[in-house]
Amino acid sequence: MSEYLSDHVHLSDDGTAVIILDQTQLPNRTEYLTLRTAKQMFDAIQSLQVRGAPCIGICAAYDLYVLAQRIPDTASAEEFMSKLNEQANYLASSRPTAVNLRWALDRMLDTAKAHAADTDRLTALHSECIAIHKEDIAMCRSIAEYGLSLISDGDGILTHCNAGPLATSRYGTALGPLFLGKERGMNFHVFSDETRPLLQGARLTSYELSRGGIDVTLICDNMASIVMKNGWVQACFVGCDRVAANGDAANKIGTSGVAILAKHYGIPFYVLGPTSTIDISCATGDDIPIELRDPNEIREKFYAEPMALPEVNCYNPAFDVTDHTLISGIITEYGICRAPYTESLRAVFDRKNAGIPFETPEKGGN
Ligand code: MRU
Repeated sequence: MSEYLSDHVHLSDDGTAVIILDQTQLPNRTEYLTLRTAKQMFDAIQSLQVRGAPCIGICAAYDLYVLAQRIPDTASAEEFMSKLNEQANYLASSRPTAVNLRWALDRMLDTAKAHAADTDRLTALHSECIAIHKEDIAMCRSIAEYGLSLISDGDGILTHCNAGPLATSRYGTALGPLFLGKERGMNFHVFSDETRPLLQGARLTSYELSRGGIDVTLICDNMASIVMKNGWVQACFVGCDRVAANGDAANKIGTSGVAILAKHYGIPFYVLGPTSTIDISCATGDDIPIELRDPNEIREKFYAEPMALPEVNCYNPAFDVTDHTLISGIITEYGICRAPYTESLRAVFDRKNAGIPFETPEKGGN
């Protein structure tokens, strides 16, 4: 293989499988899974063994490269594309909200189409999945710089769900400024919402921050209000799974409640994410599909015994949409977008579509 990226999602040494850190086992066990079949890949995404919008995209790109290897060399360009499209659609159906999944698969399909008739078509796909991963690392780094420019040493930051290295690559998005600041000798106090019902804040965010030497306090979701009222939070940093053209942002269920509280207490609320998470084809948040998950995640998961009768109805949306009017800024690798988002996000896409590379500021900046 030409390259090996040693993150928590990567290709096996021989390139014929995808290796992932099983996020469902954290923080108690560090276990890696080897994904070889489309079913294993689908299940890993749907069960959140691999999760976080950018990370799902990276994983799916590697998945498709591995699945492409199973298509016989003798397959014509049409047969190759037909099989690959089928596999991509199957993987894309595993989770509907995070747009990075479809975005990464489409990038791989575009590359496949351009090289379908080549004898070395797999080489092009290998380069593309590595490029998707490397670009995410660079985007996270840039987002971290811009995010860091918004906060000061000693600030209290509240975050919801997990938008750290596990959900992306290297720095993460919402947690990136905190890790970067730590590298530069700054200290922050982070309040991590536990994030019911799947506890990404408890299991993953507090784990990542704690292991990274960052002062973190875990709170239940319904405690966000009191820490804000106490004056302990100077900014909220959250990730995103899909941002609409008008700035409405889908993220883990409960995020919009945090934004409403932040507005009440006059605390800036920032959404951090790469342009691969912005879906300009969605005019508003109403166009973003919201994943509904198994009611038993509410009734019984993580409890020693069920906490509700099996017949009790549960509504379990995995994401909600934060209205753009509640968002103080959307931080992408191209910089900090401010309202009106229809214009600022469009300007970012104009630069991106024109092939203008983003520039990571040396130190903060906007
Ligand atoms: O259901 P999950 O755990 O995949 O949800 C993840 C989130 O909501 C994250 O905040 C989001 O993907 C941002 S990832 C940098």
